[in-house]
Amino acid sequence: MDSSGKKVTFPLMLAVSVAVIGSLQFGYNTGVINAPQTIIEAFYNRTWEARYNEPILQTSLTTLWSLSVSIFSIGGIFGSFSVGLFVNRFGRKKSMLMANGLAIIAAALMGFSKLAASWEMLIIGRFVVGLYSGLSTGFVPMYVGEIAPTALRGALGTLHQLGIVLGILIAQVFGLESIMGSADLWPLLLGFTFIPAVVQIVMLPFCPESPRFLLINCNEENKAKSVLKKLRGTSDVSADMQEMKEESRQMMREKKVTIPELFRSPIYRQPIIVAIMLQLSQQLSGINAVFYYSTSIFAKAGVSQPVYATIGAGVVNTAFTVVSLFVVERAGRRSLHLIGLVGMACSAILMTIALALLDKYTEMSYLSIVAIFSFVAFFEIGPGPIPWFIVAELFSQGPRPSAIAVAGFCNWTANFIVGMGFQYVQLLCGPYVFIIFTLLLFGFFVFTFFKVPETKGRTFDEISAGFRHTAGFEVEKHSPEELNSLGADSQL
Ligand SMILES: *[C@@H]1O[C@H](CO)[C@@H](O)[C@H](O)[C@H]1NC(C)=O
Repeated sequence: MDSSGKKVTFPLMLAVSVAVIGSLQFGYNTGVINAPQTIIEAFYNRTWEARYNEPILQTSLTTLWSLSVSIFSIGGIFGSFSVGLFVNRFGRKKSMLMANGLAIIAAALMGFSKLAASWEMLIIGRFVVGLYSGLSTGFVPMYVGEIAPTALRGALGTLHQLGIVLGILIAQVFGLESIMGSADLWPLLLGFTFIPAVVQIVMLPFCPESPRFLLINCNEENKAKSVLKKLRGTSDVSADMQEMKEESRQMMREKKVTIPELFRSPIYRQPIIVAIMLQLSQQLSGINAVFYYSTSIFAKAGVSQPVYATIGAGVVNTAFTVVSLFVVERAGRRSLHLIGLVGMACSAILMTIALALLDKYTEMSYLSIVAIFSFVAFFEIGPGPIPWFIVAELFSQGPRPSAIAVAGFCNWTANFIVGMGFQYVQLLCGPYVFIIFTLLLFGFFVFTFFKVPETKGRTFDEISAGFRHTAGFEVEKHSPEELNSLGADSQL
């Protein structure tokens, strides 16, 4: 092994930093609507009154606000589905460059919505920035993974996750009334997305195209070599070239599996169900109820400075993301996920106690802060990072792109359901709203305990052999056609 494999060169650092702006943007737009909720709701109320000459009904306001929050995830669904269309046609770098067009359009729509007295513009802007975020969450890990040397791939890949949580934290801090979360400045808070977009547009031309795209998609061996030389800071890049060629040969050997095949084939059915359930466990844990609505949750829990508690949650979130970066590589995925789910469930129970007893004991507002902080901390230990890890580990090259698309779709859809539904359920259930997440979390715990295999340090063959073993009883009941297709699939 030569030492160049671990060298962090300037071109590599630059390219990774510029790419991760996309992750920051995703996090920022996840967190940005949290703190200024009441202020923007007041704007909706005033605009409604000016248009229709009557104050807005509480239910209409809840609908408009829930939609403004959650339509972001509808954009995310479309964005994450379009990643493949972009990266293979235009390349990784141009795709990122083009996506910034969406960020700028979204910033303009949201930034000028107050001036135009139009909540429609804000809602459409949220949709467009969701599109951008769905694309980014595909582009950034791909680009970073493809320019990083093998030895640093894991470490640099985690910067995507860090970028997201830092983005959330920045948005929460900017959302302080004394910064941009005021009745006058909230358009700037939402329009801020413009600035990282411009920075990325200016800096991307100084970053290289992914050598893997140049070699495998464009067949430009010399260009790929010269990019690699710059990134690695060495003239001998034959090992990297060899690895990419080997990977491309493997891809050719393995037939691409389509999404319907993923569900029909008995080989993939079990792993795809596991992948879907893990994505659902991440979103239906209720984490985005906290990232979207924590300020209003804290206010209802009697916290006197709810915005600061929200920022505290952002700090805890960031700190535990860093902790999990060190733990995830060493501990088993399954155990971490189980620990995270139980921890979140207990935190949700604490939260329910805090909300239910608030009338009797005002100190319960402190308990609610503890509950939300530990809810977020346990999320970042398990259900935050693990589901994405496992999808990539459960599937080999052939079925992986389809599996990731299905997982992304389920993730964003569940994200939408929580973002859209939370406030209604809160109106209905009052202090008992977190009981629902508790039940879901225990359900996911049971599923994970019985159905999710440990993937750490195991090959795809070992993992799928494990699934076949547990599914063995079912296979015997299959019809002859199904057994035929099973035979055909296993020859891939
Ligand atoms: C809308 O604003 C009016 C005062 O301008 C207020 O009385 C009313 O409660 C507000 N409606 C909602 C749903 O917040």
